[in-house]
Amino acid sequence: MKPGDPPAPWGWAGEVCVRPEALPGELALRLPFAPRWRAEQIAGCFVLVRCSVESTATRTLDWGLYRRRALAVTGVHADAEGTELRLWLPQDPDPGHGWLARVAPGDRLHCLGPWGRGYRLHEQTRHLLLLAHLAADPGALARLLPLVNPTLDRGGRVAVVARVAGDGPGGPLQVPLPIPVEVRVAVDEEEWLGHLEETLAWADQVCGEMPMAAWGAVAETVRRVRFRLDEGFCQMRVAAEMVCGTGGCLACVVSLPRGGFTRACVHGPVFDLTWFA
Ligand code: FES
Repeated sequence: MKPGDPPAPWGWAGEVCVRPEALPGELALRLPFAPRWRAEQIAGCFVLVRCSVESTATRTLDWGLYRRRALAVTGVHADAEGTELRLWLPQDPDPGHGWLARVAPGDRLHCLGPWGRGYRLHEQTRHLLLLAHLAADPGALARLLPLVNPTLDRGGRVAVVARVAGDGPGGPLQVPLPIPVEVRVAVDEEEWLGHLEETLAWADQVCGEMPMAAWGAVAETVRRVRFRLDEGFCQMRVAAEMVCGTGGCLACVVSLPRGGFTRACVHGPVFDLTWFA
């Protein structure tokens, strides 16, 4: 946001809308206000969505699914009718996610956010490397999408190194990437590390959606190729359970390798890799 822009409301009710080009698993909400966020400013952030439809007629709510679900931002889209915020809805057995998958166009969902520390795209970044582990998480690349167009718009280039399941479909092809984006797909760990090694020297900045178990290998490869891991070079988003989203409940704590814990909702969910390696 620019200085002087009005702050976005803390809580708001978004109207579920249908986007023909939406990815499977994306939830699009029409915003009741005109936000000044740019996509890259909220990439990696999360929105706490109430699992209950807000009825303006009866003002009644179903509190059966009390806890809000934290959904990651996949994009923000403005047109003549207003602005939509797109969120990633995991397709898993969670009852809240299942409930949200059944909402209908026109339903109004109460939301808080976007919150959290997201990816920080540096002004000078022209070569952006995105790491997505689609075998572990089908939404990994979708959550990195808000970083793609802003990088291309400034004359930069984007490369994706994606790890897909050996017997699965070509995961990245399910996500509509702009033509200039270079995509490298690996079906096993060795191939994936090979692509990483080849692209790291080219990259100005790396943003990743990888399981924490893989962060050590990424850090080690960065040190091998670039001799050191500088702060600001590589950022990773942690998959933590968010409940309150404000630092109060400790549901989202992640342990730090040097000892102690941190709360992903206030200090993350995107972390600099130097915190963990
Ligand atoms: S979600 Fe409650 S402390 Fe982070």
